[in-house]
Amino acid sequence: MRTGLVLLHGFPLDATMWEPQKSALSEHLTLLAPNFPGHGEAPRAGDVTTMDAAADYAAQQMRVSNLERAVICGLSMGGYAALAFWRRHRNMVAGLVLANTRAGADDDAGKQRRRDLAQRLRAEGNGFLAESPPPLFSEKASPQLWDRAKAIIRAQPAEALAADSLGMADRPDSTPDLAGITVPVLVITSSGDTLIPPDATREMAGRISNAKFDVIPDAGHLSNLEAPAEFNRLLSEFMRQFE
Ligand code: MLT
Repeated sequence: MRTGLVLLHGFPLDATMWEPQKSALSEHLTLLAPNFPGHGEAPRAGDVTTMDAAADYAAQQMRVSNLERAVICGLSMGGYAALAFWRRHRNMVAGLVLANTRAGADDDAGKQRRRDLAQRLRAEGNGFLAESPPPLFSEKASPQLWDRAKAIIRAQPAEALAADSLGMADRPDSTPDLAGITVPVLVITSSGDTLIPPDATREMAGRISNAKFDVIPDAGHLSNLEAPAEFNRLLSEFMRQFE
């Protein structure tokens, strides 16, 4: 059986952000890109989408696809959920890829910002976020790339984004779990990530024994979209050990 690769998306997006990986890697890998609850086909999981709920939905989708074990790859919010997946379903985890993410929880100010954002999303819809998204890319990103990300943001239900935001605010500190990770791990960051600075991701990698750590140059937060060739190369190389 081919090794599975499960891709968990970032915020404020959905699984369509993985298109450059799906088109390049599906021929060689069994790829699954489940949405977070409330996005696309995935049923809502209440007013707050906890990282546990996102991990459980991904595990359920693996079972539906007869995928017993897979490499769980999460970018940013997807990385928070990948660490929840490790805590809750580790017998299904062959390896982890943690991209542009961090292990720590938010401080009080950060939690409040997420709650304020959720409130605004519920009051106004997601138009303001699609028009003025967070710094998802580096300064070098093309207008076309920004348009693509904005179109994905615009397609998300505001309720789902609000629930994601509240779920991220409530997420626990995953730092204590890092030393106990026993599967192969690839950690990716990018030099132009201003949302989750490379140092935060590097620190997480340093706490995982034998994690492979790579920095993609000249790309911002959504490294899989801004530097797909390099992201796919790192992913393919890492996946080779599971063949
Ligand atoms: C993401 O890309 O998923 C977000 O930047 C994560 C976050 O807001 O912490």
